[in-house]
Amino acid sequence: MATLHLPLDRDVETPIFRQISDGLRRAILDGRLRPGQRIPSTRSLATDLGVSRLPVLSAYEQLLHEGYLVGRTGSGTFVSKSIPDDLLRTPAVARPAPMPRPDDVSFRERVVPNQPSLTSWHVPVIPFQVGLPALDLFPHAAWAKLVARQLRAETAEQLAYGDPAGSRSLRVAIAEHLRASRAVRCVADQVLIVSGSQAALRLAAATLLEPNDRVAVEEPGYFGAHRALRAAGAQLVPVPVDEEGLHVATLERRGKNVRAVYVTPSHQYPLGTTMSASRRFALLDWAARNDAWILEDDYDSEFRYISRPVGALQGMDAHDRVIYMGTFSKALFPALRVGYIVVPPALWNNFLQSRFAFDLFTPTLYQRALAEFLKQGHFARHLRRMRSAYLERRDALLRGLALHCRDQVQVHNSDAGLHVAVLLREGLDDHDVATRLGRRGVAALTLSSSFVGPTPKQGLLLGFGCAEPDRLLEATRILGDVLRESA
Ligand SMILES: Cc1ncc(COP(=O)(O)O)c(C=O)c1O
Repeated sequence: MATLHLPLDRDVETPIFRQISDGLRRAILDGRLRPGQRIPSTRSLATDLGVSRLPVLSAYEQLLHEGYLVGRTGSGTFVSKSIPDDLLRTPAVARPAPMPRPDDVSFRERVVPNQPSLTSWHVPVIPFQVGLPALDLFPHAAWAKLVARQLRAETAEQLAYGDPAGSRSLRVAIAEHLRASRAVRCVADQVLIVSGSQAALRLAAATLLEPNDRVAVEEPGYFGAHRALRAAGAQLVPVPVDEEGLHVATLERRGKNVRAVYVTPSHQYPLGTTMSASRRFALLDWAARNDAWILEDDYDSEFRYISRPVGALQGMDAHDRVIYMGTFSKALFPALRVGYIVVPPALWNNFLQSRFAFDLFTPTLYQRALAEFLKQGHFARHLRRMRSAYLERRDALLRGLALHCRDQVQVHNSDAGLHVAVLLREGLDDHDVATRLGRRGVAALTLSSSFVGPTPKQGLLLGFGCAEPDRLLEATRILGDVLRESA
């Protein structure tokens, strides 16, 4: 038989036996080896390929096991005659997957818009990237030690399925932290560990909402929340925000049959305002009168530069209408994927059941390491260090904006959080500016992507968490150039 072309690459991680079995499988599927055809003996293939017989034997064994080959004692190895035709028609070169027809996907998926692009959320760590903390200042050595210790000490039980509520020690540590620093009224039994606040929102929506329920959202607001709520089948009702936060009087007017409202009271995303005390009371009162839920997203409240941190809305709620959600994505790092929900006691069982249906539980190794990180004081220390680092980064950004973008942008509230929103001059298109910035290695999220309804304002969200002060200064110089070019 003709020599089989099976290219091997010794510089890649894939073991040689796997490269041989993959190559043979491909040759069978694309028709170079026909059903019933005899294939070379292991000895002759090993010689042809210049490898020992062992990997060839392993590859043949694998394909015998998968049913691609059949062995006849004494007479050799053959391609199986019973491979289904549709498998054999698989082309050698992968075709681009066809787009699903509208009816192939659920209504809920169709209503989730494509903006902003998903890739913009995981681009490299570059200046102005929104939502990223100072990954360069994370105490990696201390963290690695804790993770390694947990890993070494892992018991068989800890390798099994975990508690859907989360690791007990972490829930206790989080409850303590939230009571002390966020004035949240809770005990550990109310704390449900989830894989980030995005998962928290999906879970809350699945537990509390029916498809087509009306849910009020801040306008402009967090696009991640819009996606999660739409994916749960909710109809979004945009309610404007002003310098006191969500405009509750408008909610009262538009809020007929509104089942829930999503808010970021400590640091409004994206504009950065803090909800005033009177608005907080008005919102709690509205929720109690209308039997509506308040989904409070307290995503980056640890970082406040001018005044003392304001407590969570949940702590002021006398009627158990607030579902409080938090995350370690900003305080530590997003790849951790650990967030939490403080659930009103009456709803605990419902949340737990839905959580079980979703994804069972959050990976437990990081949960245990994180509990130690909190208990041993690393978390509190890290937050203290980060507050002064972020203050320095924010100041560099503001200085750069004043220096290079004077008259070009109007800076919004910058007292807290890890980004600053700026409004662009009349006539500029924020998508166009963001695209030009991207070409020059600077990230920026458009303000227009934060609107559910018509976009009255064009602007940019400039993250300052993940870049050092001099890189931020340089990025503002580039922004100034881009704005002048675009004008
Ligand atoms: C308003 C808001 N909520 C939550 C998050 C974080 O979500 P997660 O915990 O899923 O990483 C972000 C990230 O930027 C955010 O801006």
